[in-house]
Amino acid sequence: MFGPRKPLDSVTSHPKNARLAKTLSWPHLVALGVGAIVGTGIYTLVGVGAERAGPAVILAFVICGLVCGCAALAYAELATMIPAAGSAYTFSYAALGEGIAWIVGWSLILEYSLACSTVAVGWSGYLVGWIESAGVHLPHALLVGPHGGGIVNLPAVAVALAVMGMLIAGTRESATLNIILVVIKLVALGVFVAFAAPNFHTANLHPFMPYGFGSDGKHGVMAAAAIVFFAFYGFDAVATSAEETKNPARDLKIGIIGSMVLCTIIYMAVAIAAVGALPFTALANSPEPLALVLRNLGQPLAAHLIALAAIIALPSVILVMMYGQSRVFFVMARDGLLPRRLAKVSQRTGAPTLITVLTGVTIALVAGIFRLDEIAELANAGTLLAFISVGACLMVLRRTAPDAKRLFRAPAPYVVGMLTILGCLYLMVSLPPMTLVRFAGWNVIGLVIYFAYSRRHSDVAARAASVAAL
Ligand code: ALA
Repeated sequence: MFGPRKPLDSVTSHPKNARLAKTLSWPHLVALGVGAIVGTGIYTLVGVGAERAGPAVILAFVICGLVCGCAALAYAELATMIPAAGSAYTFSYAALGEGIAWIVGWSLILEYSLACSTVAVGWSGYLVGWIESAGVHLPHALLVGPHGGGIVNLPAVAVALAVMGMLIAGTRESATLNIILVVIKLVALGVFVAFAAPNFHTANLHPFMPYGFGSDGKHGVMAAAAIVFFAFYGFDAVATSAEETKNPARDLKIGIIGSMVLCTIIYMAVAIAAVGALPFTALANSPEPLALVLRNLGQPLAAHLIALAAIIALPSVILVMMYGQSRVFFVMARDGLLPRRLAKVSQRTGAPTLITVLTGVTIALVAGIFRLDEIAELANAGTLLAFISVGACLMVLRRTAPDAKRLFRAPAPYVVGMLTILGCLYLMVSLPPMTLVRFAGWNVIGLVIYFAYSRRHSDVAARAASVAAL
């Protein structure tokens, strides 16, 4: 009904010049996961979350942690079963058929590229605040896009292009640098908790849930959860590197689940420390909530260091997301759903150069022009759809391919699959209605391309047709 499926055994076999080099092992993957997960979400959106939910933003983090925990289990099983680049797109191709795979791949493009753009804009905010706090004034027109009365957000464009250059230089070098940046980011969050926790006042948690639980599109715990969800994803980017891992069984399991659990614990600590230290109204919508808390606690030096860590380390999020994005594009092109020329791998680095340039430039343009929260919400919509499909793939493949080799088996797969699907659906409907309209528009464009081009150029469909003709 949803078009041809990719046979499971064909997913991992490709001609030599269209194969990615195996250069990564599990420390790279945990760092890749944490590098993608910890970013603008915890550094910036914790303030937006507090504005939408009050102190119950803590609850929003718990909800997202549970939903993403289930999704991570599903990802780990599927990624070790189908260790090929493309993650949710590739899983859907094997389990659900080409039409669904296309929609999922199209959503992943939204996830990865808009997440890069979001973080680039967030990074620009920190950088500008930091420079201006030293008394230097920069021309407004070059610091924000047209929505804020400027022309272009030049720092955001610059950081996106710089990361693109690093990826073109080769995966392994980028992954190693990423480990250093991850350490900086985590130490900074540790410093934050160490300074904020001793100032915890239970009075700051009252009223705990001032806007109630459900989302009205603007307020409520679920409205906060729908935006702070941004803070959690990224672990799925690890699955996109499956084809490049030396020992997929061990590396992916530790990489995906390890990075997810580690980040959830860190987020809980940061969120509790933040809303316990200041009334939530002070945090609400601050572009730099963590630094703000520390400044208010009379710790300007620590505030300064947190901001500096964000400036140094947030580009690692862009790095991992852009990496995932170029790989999804690459696999879709290799399958013929996008022009095949795009799938050419560089002889020197083993990375798909042309695709990396195309995605990098697009990400930079979006970051230069659009508003942070709107981009983040749309990225969330794309990610939620991809997670829903992964929950479905987990259950479908347990039925259709019960004997396929699974190096990691998710516990209670039908419970995990259903919780992933229902949790993500609930988060999706809690997004602002305008975001859902934009997301629908994106998918309409995707379907037009699919029916006009991709369906006719699909490798899998061509193979299925020639088998049927025999
Ligand atoms: N989870 C990533 C972040 O918070 C996308 O920036």
